[in-house]
Amino acid sequence: MVGSSNLPGIDLKSAAGVLAEARCAGVLTVFDSGWDADGWSQESVEGIRAVLAETDVYLPNLDEARALTGRSQVGEVLEGLASLGAGVVIVKGGEIGSYAAVDGRVVLVEAISTEVDNAVGAGDVYNAGVIAGYLRGRDVLTSMSLGTAAASLYVSRRRDRFPSFDEVDALAQQVIISTVEVQS
Ligand SMILES: Nc1ncnc2c1ncn2[C@@H]1O[C@H](COP(=O)(O)OP(=O)(O)OP(=O)(O)O)[C@@H](O)[C@H]1O
Ligand SMILES: [Mg+2]
Repeated sequence: MVGSSNLPGIDLKSAAGVLAEARCAGVLTVFDSGWDADGWSQESVEGIRAVLAETDVYLPNLDEARALTGRSQVGEVLEGLASLGAGVVIVKGGEIGSYAAVDGRVVLVEAISTEVDNAVGAGDVYNAGVIAGYLRGRDVLTSMSLGTAAASLYVSRRRDRFPSFDEVDALAQQVIISTVEVQS
């Protein structure tokens, strides 16, 4: 479920019930609410939390993740989100890259630098790359690399912006993964 904050009137608690049923049927559940322009009311945060409890892969950007947790450091943000029940949390950080906690480390999957034509929508294309990875049985870092490659190709193009899986997979081999020093 992507962009729920842009769907006024959506009942997130009912949506959580649908995701729970999907999960029972063996479907991978993926969630990205997008930015809540109405200011992250208690009702919308509670709705998002209900959805997170039924989410296998959660994909907020850093601003959304900070708004939801009230924390600032990426390590603390990831910790806060993990405690809300999502299976895997991947936080997108624009041209820097994307973050996840893997084996007790905070990992940065660096963005692939490119000449940008238009970066609006990069997060959605990143999501598609991650989902393509999961559907092929790839692990979290490989799936993040696929998302990174898909988004990089997308932001650099004016036309034919949605690359094939093979093209994404080839570029994903170039992705650099580093460990983030977490301030204590
Ligand atoms: N300027 C850029 N150059 C290369 N890669 C980028 C750039 N901007 C974004 N990306 C890639 O796309 C991923 C997702 O982008 P971003 O963090 O902007 O998501 P988002 O805020 O959800 O975007 P949107 O809401 O516009 O769809 C980043 O983690 C990064 O890998
Ligand atoms: Mg987004």
